[in-house]
Amino acid sequence: MRWVYDKSTSRYRSAPIVQHRGAVCRCLTGPSRMWKYSLPVVLVLLLAYTVFSVQLQWRSVTWRQPRRAGKETSTSKVLQTTQRGKYDAIDNTSRSWTTVESGSTTHSHRTIVQTVRPTGASNCVTHTSIAFIKVHKCGSTTLQRSFLRFGFTHRLNVALPRGRDSPTIGHDGLITRDDYEPSPGGARWDLFAHHGTYNRTQLLQLMKKDTKFITVLREPVSRLLSAFHYFRMERYFPGLMNETGQGSPVVTYLDDVKKWNSVYVPPKDRDFADHICIRNCMSRDLGLPEEDFDNRTAIDKFIRGIERDFSLVMILEHLDQSLILLRRRMCWLFEDIIYDNLYWSRKARYRKRDVITEDRRQNFIEENYADYLLYKHFKTVLLDIIKKEGKDFDPELQHFKRINAVIGRNCHTVTRPKSFILGPSQWNQRIRIYNHFCTLIRQEREFWDKMFRKRYKAMKKTIH
Ligand SMILES: *[C@@H]1O[C@H](CO)[C@@H](O)[C@H](O)[C@H]1NC(C)=O
Ligand SMILES: *[C@@H]1O[C@H](CO)[C@@H](O)[C@H](O)[C@H]1NC(C)=O
Ligand SMILES: *[C@@H]1O[C@H](CO)[C@@H](O)[C@H](O)[C@H]1NC(C)=O
Ligand SMILES: *[C@@H]1O[C@H](CO)[C@@H](O)[C@H](O)[C@H]1NC(C)=O
Repeated sequence: MRWVYDKSTSRYRSAPIVQHRGAVCRCLTGPSRMWKYSLPVVLVLLLAYTVFSVQLQWRSVTWRQPRRAGKETSTSKVLQTTQRGKYDAIDNTSRSWTTVESGSTTHSHRTIVQTVRPTGASNCVTHTSIAFIKVHKCGSTTLQRSFLRFGFTHRLNVALPRGRDSPTIGHDGLITRDDYEPSPGGARWDLFAHHGTYNRTQLLQLMKKDTKFITVLREPVSRLLSAFHYFRMERYFPGLMNETGQGSPVVTYLDDVKKWNSVYVPPKDRDFADHICIRNCMSRDLGLPEEDFDNRTAIDKFIRGIERDFSLVMILEHLDQSLILLRRRMCWLFEDIIYDNLYWSRKARYRKRDVITEDRRQNFIEENYADYLLYKHFKTVLLDIIKKEGKDFDPELQHFKRINAVIGRNCHTVTRPKSFILGPSQWNQRIRIYNHFCTLIRQEREFWDKMFRKRYKAMKKTIH
């Protein structure tokens, strides 16, 4: 308190010190300077501590832990404590690990994925002899990529077209010596995953004795839409574009399937002609001859034959379910059936303007009755099998969907992590996924063919 002379009243009055700006400021100078410097220091220390501890934890996962089996360190506790909900946690942990490890760079890519055999299937043996009959436009390219990756990571003897890049091995169900690359030492194939019309006799002459046959089907009308757009099939129906105008060519086609099929002019290139097909294309790929297309007895016999010969007929509309069945039948790991789902959903977007009325659907079915029956039969079969798989099928399916989604998401982020971890579950132990795996799940046939060709060469050298 001090006295101030007030001119208006000609008197002294008391004035509190706090009102004096200078004094107040001087009072606070000391502490405020300290505050100004200590805050950043504390922040820097905190940051350093966080980075350091996170690094430590990360290292204990990547390097120390796998070598000390059985002795779980703090990191796995971190993983487990974040796993309150069994499945959500896979997303959450892998997401956080994604950000954590982006700074560390020293990974060996020798191991792509490390998993232990699923607990439920500890006594089964991985089946590796597979003939995948690749039916056109049924999602079979997505599956082919998984199969070829499987062939690569398991070092299988994979069928290769001779000398050049070709999606097909053989023509019309016949494979001659000119069609395929002789395998090292003349060994039989473990894996066939290229295009080729199904001919069991023929394939069994070239493949291992215990080969299991697998294929995939798709709802026939959506298969047609996919093929029509993909191959731009309007080119092979003279007059179709004239009649279409601004509309959708496939809709014009579906308005009178019979008429357009009668004017069809197949492409001249033989390789390409193998891929284009206008009637019962799935049945054709599976070996039904054209003369049987309108013979109900023959069609029924054909369907029974496929059911007898194939270990699994997958259905694209139930792809994840089909893959779980595949995994169970073949004793495969989750990582074997993982596929690039983002790639898949990008490709699967179809034009909304293709309005498929019931009349158009009927027009199509009349001309493609074998495919209609084939699909209907195997869809029923698949759903029946799933029903009989037991209570653990659905949780396993949901788990797979989540794993696949997490991998897809992580593999498609711009700042792709060097590796990330999927938490343990009832079906798999902790999985560590390296960046390299992201690269592998995207590779297409051309890439794999090159890799297999290199392996063929290297193996032939060691044999001679
Ligand atoms: C995972 O994250 C979501 C949203 O980010 C959250 O709602 C959920 O509770 C988390 N789950 C766990 C187990 O932490
Ligand atoms: C299937 O392959 C066998 C053995 O090469 C051959 O004799 C037969 O003609 C083939 N069948 C068809 C329908 O091409
Ligand atoms: C398409 O229409 C034009 C004019 O209407 C006609 O000159 C042409 O011959 C037609 N083309 C076919 C393939 O029908
Ligand atoms: C239809 O197929 C059956 C079985 O393959 C055959 O016996 C029959 O002769 C065929 N009928 C016609 C009309 O081709």
